[in-house]
Amino acid sequence: MDTIWTPSLANWQGAKYQGIAEGIADAVRCGDLVADQKLPTHRALAEALGVTTGTVTRAYAEAERRGLVYAVIGSGTFVRGSEASSHEWRFTETQPEGLIELHLNRPLKSDRAELFARSMRSLAAHPAQINQLLDYQPDIGVTAHRQLICEWLARESWQPMNDQVVISNGGQHALLVALMALTRAGDTVVAEELTYPGFNAVARQLRLEVRSAAMDREGIVPESLDLVCRQVSPRALFCTPSLQNPTTATMSLQRREAVLAVCRRHGVIVIEDEVSIGLADGLPPPLAALAPEQAVLVGSFSKSLAAGVRVGYLVGSSSLQNRLGAAVRASCWMVSPVMVALVCEWIRDGSARQLLLAQREEISARLEIALDRLQGFRVSSHPGGLHLWLHLPEPWRADEFVVAAREQGVLVQAAASFSVGRAAVPHAVRISVSAASTRAQLAQGLDLLLPLLHEGPGAVPALF
Ligand SMILES: Cc1ncc(COP(=O)(O)O)c(C=O)c1O
Repeated sequence: MDTIWTPSLANWQGAKYQGIAEGIADAVRCGDLVADQKLPTHRALAEALGVTTGTVTRAYAEAERRGLVYAVIGSGTFVRGSEASSHEWRFTETQPEGLIELHLNRPLKSDRAELFARSMRSLAAHPAQINQLLDYQPDIGVTAHRQLICEWLARESWQPMNDQVVISNGGQHALLVALMALTRAGDTVVAEELTYPGFNAVARQLRLEVRSAAMDREGIVPESLDLVCRQVSPRALFCTPSLQNPTTATMSLQRREAVLAVCRRHGVIVIEDEVSIGLADGLPPPLAALAPEQAVLVGSFSKSLAAGVRVGYLVGSSSLQNRLGAAVRASCWMVSPVMVALVCEWIRDGSARQLLLAQREEISARLEIALDRLQGFRVSSHPGGLHLWLHLPEPWRADEFVVAAREQGVLVQAAASFSVGRAAVPHAVRISVSAASTRAQLAQGLDLLLPLLHEGPGAVPALF
């Protein structure tokens, strides 16, 4: 007999119908349910879950209201195309037709073709070197490359050493490597209650338990973290101290020290995500600079230079280098040295700095446009941040707003996409300022959202 798709209500504390709707959202997010897949009949799912048929009917209605499913009279209930769901993360080859993308944190598009060609010619001008780059390399990366990355990361308050750096295939891979090296299946990892969804994806793959700690405007709240540590003895904390994704919260130095103190007390290792570290000035030192024995930094050149090079890094205690290297070996053997050499060429000849400064200038102009348009609404932002966090005016709920925005031709990301576990989520959406192809397109997208914000649900007719 075929097994039917069934959500788990085991850890669900609220109303059962909401648990089922949340289960549908989760399954769409991680690909267990795909576009146009038929959901079980009300009666079959009710029997499988031991609930009444009325509960499933209410759950499907809730999922439909959230834009996750659609009903066809006489045929049943089907999963909506994933690009219409509020949890869409996949990058597509071309922009969705007619839609303005304010939902993904892309690096800004700029013409780097000439720079790329020049750098490749310059690398190829040294045959011995290029032939070496085309061979296998050590798992942690080549010494000269790691040295240049140290120089790139150096701040007044921090100078990482060569033997602390391990090169990765971008930030997501760095996160995978850190979690592979520092946790085992079944371990618990604490995260901020709203976090980068790539973390949830890796945690799921590695069979980690995830618990959340409360946040405020400075990110994770030490008292809440302390309580969670006492309750579940986690192995690690995952957090984003600067320009947090999605809330833009940035920890002060005092907050960083307080978070580290809690972790030290409970023997918890910190994995800090600093992929945006280069985008803003004047940030306090990373946790890995304050406590090198206790924190591992994951970083990337995706947001500051180019996502397609897929070059990132980990910075941790030199005593962890072997474990991190083993995780790189297990996941990909080594990072393409050719792409790392390209990034290092950019660091060496100053192009990386120029690209970063141009990126910062454009982000700053775009943030100004967005903040100007959204005056009067509750918005969190940070200079250099690729996104802002918009608290929706009453009576909007985030998932309803995402559907209404899409009907106006604009994609934004609902708070639920960032939720950890089953914690209640705020009525807020993330608006990325970097994904629109031009400043004018960003302004146009925001102008389409304004009537929704001013007039509330149901008042503005759909355009799409
Ligand atoms: C907070 C955060 N961490 C990590 C990553 C992954 O970085 P990469 O694109 O280098 O894999 C992203 C990308 O969106 C991110 O926003």
